[in-house]
Amino acid sequence: EFDVPLGAVVKLCNSGQIHVLDDEGNEHWLSSLNATNIKPMHPTSVHGVADMICLGDLNEAGILRNLLIRYREHLIYTYTGSILVAVNPYQLLPIYTADHIRLYTRKKVGEMPPHIFAIADNCYFSMRRSAKDQCCVISGESGAGKTESTKLILQFLASISGQHSWIEKQVLEATPILEAFGNAKTIRNDNSSRFGKYIDIHFNIRGAIEGARIEQYLLEKSRVCRQTQDERNYHIFYCMLQGMSPDMKKKLYLGNAVDYDYLTMGNCVVCDGRDDLKEYSNILSAMKVLMFTDTESWEISKLLAAILHIGNLRFEARMHDNMDACMVLCSVNLTTAAALLEVDPEEVMSCLTSRTLVTRGETVSTLLNVEQGLDVRDAFIKGIYGRLFVWIVDKINAAIYKPPPSDCKYMQTSIGLLDIFGFENFVINSFEQLCINFANENLQQFFVHHVFKLEQEEYNLEGIRWQHIEFTDNQDALDMIAIKPMNIISLIDEESRFPKGTDVTMLNKLNSQHKLNPIYIPPKHSRETVFGIQHFAGTVYYETAGFLEKNRDGLHGDIIQLIYTSSNKFIKQIFQTDLAMGAETRKRSPTLSGQFKRSLDLLMKTLGACQPFFVRCIKPNEFKKPMLFERVLCIRQLCYSGMMETIRIRHTGYPIRYTFAEFVDRYRVLVPDVKPAFKQGNMKVACQCILETIVGRGEDWQMGKTKIFLKDHHDVRLEMERDTAITCKVILIQKAVRGLRDRSRFLQIRDSVILIQKIWKGHHCRKNYRTMQMGFLRLQAVYRSRKVYRSYSAARRSIMVLQAWSRGLLVRQAFRHRLRAVITVQAHARGMLTRRLCQRLKTEEKERLLLAEDVWWPREAVVVQQAWEDDEQLTGPCAMQEEEAREEACPKKGVLLQGKSVQQDPVSDSDVVDEVFGFLGSNGTFPGQEGQAPTGFEDLERDPGKAEQVEEVDMARVLPLPVAEEEDLSEYKFAKFAATYFQGSATPCHTRRPLKLPLLLHEDEGDQMAALAIWITILRFMGDLPEPKIHTVVSDGSEKIPVMTKIYETLGKRTYKHELKALQGAEEVNGHRRNTARHKLVSLTLKRKSKITVEVRANTVKHGLPTAPENSMLEERPTSNLEKLHFIIGNGILRPALRPSKDKSRPGFCFYQPLEYYDSLYSSSQ
Ligand SMILES: Nc1ncnc2c1ncn2[C@@H]1O[C@H](COP(=O)(O)OP(=O)(O)OP(=O)(O)O)[C@@H](O)[C@H]1O
Ligand SMILES: [Mg+2]
Repeated sequence: EFDVPLGAVVKLCNSGQIHVLDDEGNEHWLSSLNATNIKPMHPTSVHGVADMICLGDLNEAGILRNLLIRYREHLIYTYTGSILVAVNPYQLLPIYTADHIRLYTRKKVGEMPPHIFAIADNCYFSMRRSAKDQCCVISGESGAGKTESTKLILQFLASISGQHSWIEKQVLEATPILEAFGNAKTIRNDNSSRFGKYIDIHFNIRGAIEGARIEQYLLEKSRVCRQTQDERNYHIFYCMLQGMSPDMKKKLYLGNAVDYDYLTMGNCVVCDGRDDLKEYSNILSAMKVLMFTDTESWEISKLLAAILHIGNLRFEARMHDNMDACMVLCSVNLTTAAALLEVDPEEVMSCLTSRTLVTRGETVSTLLNVEQGLDVRDAFIKGIYGRLFVWIVDKINAAIYKPPPSDCKYMQTSIGLLDIFGFENFVINSFEQLCINFANENLQQFFVHHVFKLEQEEYNLEGIRWQHIEFTDNQDALDMIAIKPMNIISLIDEESRFPKGTDVTMLNKLNSQHKLNPIYIPPKHSRETVFGIQHFAGTVYYETAGFLEKNRDGLHGDIIQLIYTSSNKFIKQIFQTDLAMGAETRKRSPTLSGQFKRSLDLLMKTLGACQPFFVRCIKPNEFKKPMLFERVLCIRQLCYSGMMETIRIRHTGYPIRYTFAEFVDRYRVLVPDVKPAFKQGNMKVACQCILETIVGRGEDWQMGKTKIFLKDHHDVRLEMERDTAITCKVILIQKAVRGLRDRSRFLQIRDSVILIQKIWKGHHCRKNYRTMQMGFLRLQAVYRSRKVYRSYSAARRSIMVLQAWSRGLLVRQAFRHRLRAVITVQAHARGMLTRRLCQRLKTEEKERLLLAEDVWWPREAVVVQQAWEDDEQLTGPCAMQEEEAREEACPKKGVLLQGKSVQQDPVSDSDVVDEVFGFLGSNGTFPGQEGQAPTGFEDLERDPGKAEQVEEVDMARVLPLPVAEEEDLSEYKFAKFAATYFQGSATPCHTRRPLKLPLLLHEDEGDQMAALAIWITILRFMGDLPEPKIHTVVSDGSEKIPVMTKIYETLGKRTYKHELKALQGAEEVNGHRRNTARHKLVSLTLKRKSKITVEVRANTVKHGLPTAPENSMLEERPTSNLEKLHFIIGNGILRPALRPSKDKSRPGFCFYQPLEYYDSLYSSSQ
């Protein structure tokens, strides 16, 4: 049946015989007679093609060889148009990485090498593009790779929908749970799905997974109680026994898998390549993800354990009233199972050994034999497991399914993945195989309908030139099984409900009803219990024994009653539908085939509303071995799946079609000047224009009445061209938009920059200007101060010379005066001595004369004469000297008189000072401007009439000439000095404001105030501070009092002495209160001197003029420079604390302004 030509390479052909090497590696020598069996291979078959529609050898042999050579190169996927053929590699190939997902995202089918991801991607983007539900029908034999393909598609969808959300995880985690409870090891597949499933994945408008819904079909419940050789029960039992902790196992009285009958029927408790321990932890974590509570997980384990314990119950045959009966042997299993189900063990026992029947209102209990007892037990177990599985699927759906909101605007699209058992044909086929093959008939019909029937109908309708293809239509089989009246399913159902119905009566009915149907094969003779059906994939014979029992799928009332008596809430929950039904209703409850048919109809309706994609899985060998390709097995599968016809129809047909409007709107971008569909007059012409431009005139595309019909490769070409064109347009739009956006942003930024620059430049220039202006002002000030300093130095030097001369003159005058006095005293003294001598001599002469009046007289006369001569000799030179001195003094006196006459000139001191300090500006002539000269200059003011008195000045009172000292000024670096001695935060910088605190520390308050007053006076003197404007004319005459006098009065010698005397006593008594007394004195004096009235102060404040509120020493009136000088110098003289001190530890007041100071001012102004 499946004998197809084999591919081979001709090695030799010139020796009369042909030497060939076939695809299986065997060498053959063929005689030339057999050469007719050899057909040359089409070039496309030599290396294989990715899309089998392109095969030149479009026959079984070509298709099979194509799959084979690709399979050997690990190319397991091949297209047939948009249908994917996947050959199970039985090994993990590195083609499912994240890179592959990326590679296949947004790619057309045919753009990349065939892959399951390409189908998934097409499914997804087709859904997003058309907003239509999609479905992917994955079919194939058991072990062909359906479930693996489903999982790969799910992973791809989860990955490209790009959310990585919780719901996605939940959807993915549903698989391990379903596989644990619904998959088992069979001889065909180590992880065979023993149920069909349809996963409907829901996407929101943004293409993100929003939920899913799983539909399960026809779980093979019989596997719980029975397994054939080398097969296992459902994975969950083995996983639980391997992975459960000893504590929990102890609670459930569980041992190992080998201890349970239900797990060892196939003599296989382990599955190669499967780690049950690890799987158990995966199942538990998946259950957590899907919101199974711990209690629920525990209850499930309890039920599973109960199933295992019930499976171990031993039945013993008994005779009761000559009737076959049985009893369950009392065992731990029984009590444990009853405890786990929370029922009475006696009840369990009676349930399994007897049956209660209700006939005509009477309840009759009949005993069951061992066989019946075992059947009841197995039915009970299947009932529990089947309902548990349904509950688990419902529980998963409760976690992952969110019904769409009733809002009609809400857009939800879905992709359905159908992983359903493939066509089955075993040695003995039971009721389940009938159901499975019925499902596959339906799917084949769907496939045929989609691929062939609809297409051909449409071709005819549209008037397309079309070469008719014969294909196998299974509609008849479907009609016979489930559609037409009195179909097989309905007959089985009917017989199931019939109380006296048996499998034999059912078969008879089937025979009588369908024996004339060519696809029905009745039993060969009356005793045979087998009937056959010619399915699309082959003839299958079904064993009718057990059909009705399986179809009824019911639990008899005793079991339901047992559940009812249970205190286990969970088991009651999974049996809730049965418990809710009455005994009669239960009898009428849908049969298994009825339920299956209904859910299948629903599935077909769902699939019919979707755009389908097909994946045909092929199993390359029965041994689950990689790189082993069994040709017969594969060709059988290809035939069963209808691939041959598919390839043929796809090859000759036009799988892609668009309405004119759709086509124009979709592809008008490819040809300039084609208007949108709604503006087109003749859309057919526009479509033709596009197709001729892009695909070409000679290509095999056709125009129908309303649609365009294209081949797959045309669609790929058009889509690629469209992508390129749209990309170009998008780039153009992006370019323009970005240009516009960037330009406007640039202009905005430029304007802002210009504004900032403008403001900054203005600010910078203003700042520079101010700095320069300040610099010039400082330069000016420095220059002026230097100039003034020089002129001041010159004036000072002149004054000093003048003083020196004056003092010299005075000293000389005094000297001469003394000299004259000495001479006079000498003259008088000598005169007196001489006169005394003369007197004595005269007296002696007289006496001598008296004595010698007579004798001695002449001698006495000589003596007298001699005395006179001596006297003259003595006085004569003195008088001459005196005369000479007088003559000498005459010119000097003249000079002195001349000097005095100069002194007598009406020159004002104030004028002199003003002349010297004239640059500081004149203060005008205010009263008292011409003050008394300071100490040491009084002589300059003396009245010329008092000149004589000057001459009489005691030498002691004449001031010595100042001795110029070479001082070491390095210690007086201003900054250093300031840092060392200045108070508070005062800096060495010149300030033009009055100080709040003296720069130096003075303990005496008077000194402090004087220092502040001096600074204000200096500022005024320098012109830095204006003179007080508020001028109160206090005509108490004080303004006429010279400054020095005032200072003297405050702290002058007189006052001081006077006050001192008054305080003398107190000081003597309490020396340490000296400062306090002095303080009192000063404050008294200062208070007395304050002449600023309250009003004046108010006025000052009002005019915002600087005042020295605490300093009453200041004159609150404009003063002349001389007065200021007097004030400054006077304070300096009278307050030793303010004078510069030689003692380095005590700083003092100093007028000295080092030149460096001006230099620093100058440089800072730069
Ligand atoms: N793409 C693949 N890559 C590698 N191994 C694969 C692939 N597909 C299937 N297999 C292997 O084949 C085995 C059977 O696959 P899978 O369970 O999907 O078959 P199935 O068609 O679902 O069978 P059943 O109808 O019995 O459920 C897997 O366990 C796996 O070992
Ligand atoms: Mg499977």
